[in-house]
Amino acid sequence: MRVGLVGVGRIGVLHAETLADNPQVTQLHVADADLARAREVADKVGATVTGLDELFSGAVDALVVATATGAHAELVQRGAEAGLPVFCEKPLAADVAGTRGVLDRVAAAGTSLQVGFQRRFDAGYRAAREAVRSGRLGWLHTLRATTADPAPPPEAYIRTSGGIFRDCHIHDFDVIRFVTGREVETVYAAGANRGDGLFARAGDVDTSAVLLTLDDGTLGVVSGGRYNGGGYDARLEVAGSEGTLVAGLDERAPLRSAEQGVRWPPGQPYASFFERFRRAYVAELGEFLDHVLGRIPNPCPAEEALEALYVAEAAERSRAEGRPVRVSEVH
Ligand SMILES: NC(=O)c1ccc[n+]([C@@H]2O[C@H](COP(=O)([O-])OP(=O)(O)OC[C@H]3O[C@@H](n4cnc5c(N)ncnc54)[C@H](O)[C@@H]3O)[C@@H](O)[C@H]2O)c1
Repeated sequence: MRVGLVGVGRIGVLHAETLADNPQVTQLHVADADLARAREVADKVGATVTGLDELFSGAVDALVVATATGAHAELVQRGAEAGLPVFCEKPLAADVAGTRGVLDRVAAAGTSLQVGFQRRFDAGYRAAREAVRSGRLGWLHTLRATTADPAPPPEAYIRTSGGIFRDCHIHDFDVIRFVTGREVETVYAAGANRGDGLFARAGDVDTSAVLLTLDDGTLGVVSGGRYNGGGYDARLEVAGSEGTLVAGLDERAPLRSAEQGVRWPPGQPYASFFERFRRAYVAELGEFLDHVLGRIPNPCPAEEALEALYVAEAAERSRAEGRPVRVSEVH
């Protein structure tokens, strides 16, 4: 299969390596607004640098979009109009209207769009889902989700990220829906700036806490931040009447016990999302290719991005207005 990859920045270079290593990819074409960057990555992975117009005129059979967020909607639209199945990094667009527009255009073209929620491909989150769905945990009462970066992303990224709820906790909101099969009804969010002025200057926060109420009454707490000195922390604790399971509590979880004599977790803490989710990023593109080949249904349809975005929008409004917000308010 001939695959085009547009955008080879932080996440795009990882996708380039993954696609180049996948035996189903016979030719990999890369494009980036920064031509020198495209050349460097193409040389590294053995790909060809190809212009956008060529990509959309028959050079490839499938498209992966990993540019900065602002270009996603247009590139997905061009891909759909060219009849290409597309994988696009989250978010599809900056807001609800833009995301709905993307979904409408893909539906009109009759093509397929997978969104990059890689946690759905992580073994731990999948096992948690299976445990919930099989009833092994009994009835759920509490979810505790964490996403915390060890250090802020570049300031230019922060300015266009849409804020911590849309950029970062959207993964928690999505995976809570994925694991439980429930929808979020109400959101109460708070944020703080405890680090330097980067986030405040962008109207964003560096520390976050969100209380969720799901449609079956289960409570969820999502927290995180951008200055987590312990390392990159992404976990989900699922507590039910029959047991508790934690996704992400492995040897490298960036936690240390305050109890004497407890030496677990023993490993080097994860330093970044690349290390923590490397296998999940590989799996999501592997399944995208399987889907393009018609072997499996779309493993993460674009509609999921809209549902998670509603929760993030509600969180942003809740933080701004200092009150609980029903997710239906932002539909
Ligand atoms: N799923 C995840 O865990 C995850 C992690 C990181 C980033 N992301 C998402 O991936 C996207 C990229 O993030 P990043 O951190 O790699 O950003 P980045 O700034 O490192 O890279 C973006 C790249 O896109 C290129 N680009 C920008 N506009 C373009 C255009 N119109 N045409 C071609 N190339 C263009 C830039 O030159 C740059 O090389 C963002 O939307 C981000 O939300 C997802």
